[in-house]
Amino acid sequence: MNIVIAGSIAFDYLMSFPGDFMEHIKPGKLNKLSLSFLVDEMRKQYGGCAPNIAFTLALLGERPVVMGTAGQDFGDYRTWLEVHGVDTSGVRVIPEVFTASFFVSTDRRQNQIASFYTGAMAYARELSFHNLTMPVDITIISPNDPQAMQKYPAECKALGIPYIYDPSQQIVRLDGAALREGVEGADILIVNDYEYELLKDRTGMREADIRAAVKRAVIVTRGEQGSFIWAGGEEIVVPVVPPQQVLDPTGVGDAYRAGLIKGLALGLPWHICGQIGALAATYVLETHGPQAHSYTLAAFGERYKAVFGEDTFTGII
Ligand SMILES: Nc1ncnc2c1ncn2[C@@H]1O[C@H](COP(=O)(O)OP(=O)(O)OP(=O)(O)O)[C@@H](O)[C@H]1O
Ligand SMILES: [Mg+2]
Repeated sequence: MNIVIAGSIAFDYLMSFPGDFMEHIKPGKLNKLSLSFLVDEMRKQYGGCAPNIAFTLALLGERPVVMGTAGQDFGDYRTWLEVHGVDTSGVRVIPEVFTASFFVSTDRRQNQIASFYTGAMAYARELSFHNLTMPVDITIISPNDPQAMQKYPAECKALGIPYIYDPSQQIVRLDGAALREGVEGADILIVNDYEYELLKDRTGMREADIRAAVKRAVIVTRGEQGSFIWAGGEEIVVPVVPPQQVLDPTGVGDAYRAGLIKGLALGLPWHICGQIGALAATYVLETHGPQAHSYTLAAFGERYKAVFGEDTFTGII
């Protein structure tokens, strides 16, 4: 199964400020803002939707290809991904710029000040499914440069590549026409419940229109309340896998998508695809960062069996 994961590639720089931002912002003196916070902790994490999804899929025994753009600082990240079984041959490095980077400082009250530097991600619009040299059985179009996200669905349709449309946090950056183009003819649409409402608003499509426009399934994730899958005229309710601890939700959505794709690659029924997604998400919840989890496929299968019992998934892995 050739799986191509198209989406952002990014670094996350996470800093902790051991004070309170509000104490340094003086109302009445806001005609000029120049603040510097001395942070005492910084973590640099590998992130971006495409590598996050690909990393979990590789743990689950697939060898997905990441299609995206990164900058001059991609070297270590490429090695990390390759070591973990991700094919980075679809990543184009743009040497003049840095990889997209998310900088966020959090104070002790959980207030945040963040900046997202687009960097190399803006070049994703120059990549094309027409230029891929490998056959593609399925792809996912995940959050990325808005122009790239606008262009990829039409390419997939022209080439007959089944695609999962995953506009998620970029819904706000795409207009109604672009979103409709993505939804219409998608194999699967996946968003969280908040994004689903936003998508309906921006496209003017009603729930019935969206279900009719998507070929196989509409999936709406609902955080700790699980997820819904509408497929073949049926609504399937997928429960969550209770986490042993909740450390950091960053990347749960991406992990769910990886689990889902694993189920699709194995040709499994929808409820099982969703359950694999739910378990993959829970593993991410239990660790810090979107690529800090690790397990073997066998261990994953054991935990799956403990939660959901034996089924066609545990029977074939
Ligand atoms: N607190 C939780 N406990 C158990 N499972 C969870 C929890 N939060 C999320 N999940 C699992 O992850 C899936 C996706 O979560 P969610 O709907 O929050 O995605 P998201 O909003 O896209 O997240 P992200 O912040 O990664 O974009 C859920 O359907 C569920 O299976
Ligand atoms: Mg999400």
